[in-house]
Amino acid sequence: MRDTWWKDAVIYQIYPKSFKDTNDDGIGDLVGIQEKLPYLKRLGIDALWICPVYLSPQIDNGYDIEDYYKIDPMFGSLTDMKHLIQAAHQLDIKIIMDFVANHTSDQCAWFQKSRQSKDNPYSDFYIWQDAASDGGVPNNWGSNFGGSAWTWDEQRQQYYLHYYAKEQPDLNWENPEVRQAIYQMMTFWKELGVDGWRMDVITSISKDWNFPNNAKPFSTANQQNGPRMHEFIHDMHTTVLGPLDMMAVGEAPAAKAQDAHLLVDPSREELDMIFTFEHMHIDRKPNDVNGRWALQKPDFVALKRILSDWQKELDDKGWNALYFENHDRARVISRWGNDTTYRYESATAFATILHGLKGTPYVYQGEEIGMTNPKYELDEYVDIELKGNYRQYVEENQTISKEDFLAAVHKISRDNARTPMQWSSEENAGFSKAKPWLKVNPNYVAVNVESDLHAKQSIFAYYQKLIQLRHTCPILREGTFDLLLPNHPAIFAYTRTIGEEEWLVVANLSEEPQDIQALVATRQDARWIVQNYQRQTIPTTLGPYESFILASKK
Ligand code: GLC
Ligand code: CA
Repeated sequence: MRDTWWKDAVIYQIYPKSFKDTNDDGIGDLVGIQEKLPYLKRLGIDALWICPVYLSPQIDNGYDIEDYYKIDPMFGSLTDMKHLIQAAHQLDIKIIMDFVANHTSDQCAWFQKSRQSKDNPYSDFYIWQDAASDGGVPNNWGSNFGGSAWTWDEQRQQYYLHYYAKEQPDLNWENPEVRQAIYQMMTFWKELGVDGWRMDVITSISKDWNFPNNAKPFSTANQQNGPRMHEFIHDMHTTVLGPLDMMAVGEAPAAKAQDAHLLVDPSREELDMIFTFEHMHIDRKPNDVNGRWALQKPDFVALKRILSDWQKELDDKGWNALYFENHDRARVISRWGNDTTYRYESATAFATILHGLKGTPYVYQGEEIGMTNPKYELDEYVDIELKGNYRQYVEENQTISKEDFLAAVHKISRDNARTPMQWSSEENAGFSKAKPWLKVNPNYVAVNVESDLHAKQSIFAYYQKLIQLRHTCPILREGTFDLLLPNHPAIFAYTRTIGEEEWLVVANLSEEPQDIQALVATRQDARWIVQNYQRQTIPTTLGPYESFILASKK
């Protein structure tokens, strides 16, 4: 039987570059993670997902791997990694590594050999195609980072495919030797003690080898759910994930609740959970020429509908991965909440909603102290996605002005979540003694771990409480989910029920007071499980971003 430890667990995501620097080069490192394990234990989390620390030219911050068997010296050594795994295990914290196998770096030895000729052992490790009859790209597929998904290679005299930067060529999963090489790498890390994988864009690994054009040139519509995706994932499960008992959470950008069980129904032996993007697009204008940079006010009715869909669909045939933040997402309180006047209230309100759901909650570093988006000038950002998209939309297409692009950057750019972790009010937020690789958010003087730990209203303490509930209350694992007030624009409310016991989870996602008489009228005897206002009695009106969980008997 597969060990399903994650069903009572909360997983903490670390972006190593920005977590804690211990050798004063301005870059976080493995020793830094180890140093902070007691902090993480105090928070109560059960596992760490560590973003890529493999040897990499860092074109996409480690999502371009040169050697799967080496640690990038910037982060430390393999010995540091072994020590970190041991130290974490001693504290009962599991380690989940990032599995980036849709693509490698162009500096990876496999690619270096592959590009040499059409008939060497690595020729078919990547996706090579001849030029079109006019000498141009094989088709109109686009890269996520702007421009075409094809780059010409002089040496081999062919184009290779890359869904991301040209320095990130896509692997050819059709080739059984590629799959074997990947399985071997997974086994290596299992032997070092790694407990599971977060699988980067796993739903992109299978390609349509007829290479049909997309309806819109340079779009990325072709990238998801290719013809052999399920077969490849199932094969990986039966060869590695199952026998080695490694947990797997896949990144599945286009997954909708209705088709998610194809990936996570345990009887299909594919993945344990997936990260959908669906609920994160509630502030994106649909089908706009400016893609992810075309924003609108967050639609909380849609948020509720989507999360509820996922709860219902995966209720008995799968498991949800729950998140609002990660290294590709902005800070949720800056994006959808209020990161100034109601920073504490909105941080805890979003946390309550998420952690009350059925599934495994993920906490992204800094979320537990309410870190916010910085508002930098364009040239202070470093992310390749932002730069590539600026070139495409502002400079080439000219469909968005620089000002509007920057406004969108302030809301949703990936660098918003990548600023250094704010540990204290010391120089560089206590992250490093040297100048950090990415500017520290200037609000670190007020917003930092040390001050939050001592605050009367501590976001950390609230997360601690939520995490503890996950460990001690079976209703969070098993309870049935039912959405209330589906059409209310600001109140997010639902129940979790198990036998006689019912929990009411409520949050006001606005600054205006909201009447909840109808919700609480029958629950006057209820007891508090958690709340972000210091109430004695159950209120009939919710204050700005007020949120709580109440337990009652049915
Ligand atoms: C995933 C990662 C992202 C990366 C991309 C390419 O979406 O989360 O950070 O840029 O894949 O590997
Ligand atoms: Ca360092």
